[in-house]
Amino acid sequence: MIPTAHIEATNKNEIAKTVLMPGDPLRAKFIAENFLTDVKQYNKTRNMLGFTGKYKGVEISVQGSGMGMPSIGIYSFELFNFYNVENIIRVGTAGGISPKIKLRDIVIAQGASTNSNYAVQYGLPGTFAPLASYNLLVNASKLSEEKGINYHVGNILSSDIFYNADTKAIEKWRKMGILAIEMEAAALYMNAAKLGKNALTILTISDIVGGEETTAEERERGFETMVEISLETTLKL
Ligand code: HPA
Repeated sequence: MIPTAHIEATNKNEIAKTVLMPGDPLRAKFIAENFLTDVKQYNKTRNMLGFTGKYKGVEISVQGSGMGMPSIGIYSFELFNFYNVENIIRVGTAGGISPKIKLRDIVIAQGASTNSNYAVQYGLPGTFAPLASYNLLVNASKLSEEKGINYHVGNILSSDIFYNADTKAIEKWRKMGILAIEMEAAALYMNAAKLGKNALTILTISDIVGGEETTAEERERGFETMVEISLETTLKL
């Protein structure tokens, strides 16, 4: 049923088949204004801004997700299920935890481990492994290679907790080869799996957990590289 509780577009055609999804709605606005042409805003409910425009002549939408799995769970479900969206690429920031990961590196999330209960809704007789779309993953990796940027492909942690009281938890995840921590990818990947759609998460490392942080300006630059890779990935669909 459209419009939905959170997206006010009244026609499915207002939203493209492929959506870039930053956490911050003002980043959605920034992407629309700086990377797209022929831009139309289709959502402002709860200030979770959504826009549709064109990148190199191809229609694409950009939608804020908010922070955390409940929030991206809502927006990605509504886009996939009610607006016939086929592909969502999350573009976000993450805290590095692997010794391989440096500030400003790009991490492409092949898998998203989680401490969340999101998968309980499916009643599965085991543990589900939330994975990226292989096609999107390969295309984004190839483009990163061609651009000569510092990128990594692997497993991340989608955490329900930013300020974790369990200080030993990170060490355990690090020992399992987790590259970085963010708070959304697992729910996005599970919604895509359940609904037969495609999803990918591309992250820039904004901080090293328990260590350094980037400045706002550096974050902006890393963000632009990631957006370019994501937009070019969508052209290969
Ligand atoms: N933890 C969780 N999410 C994040 C972090 C972090 O350190 N940095 C950016 N997003």
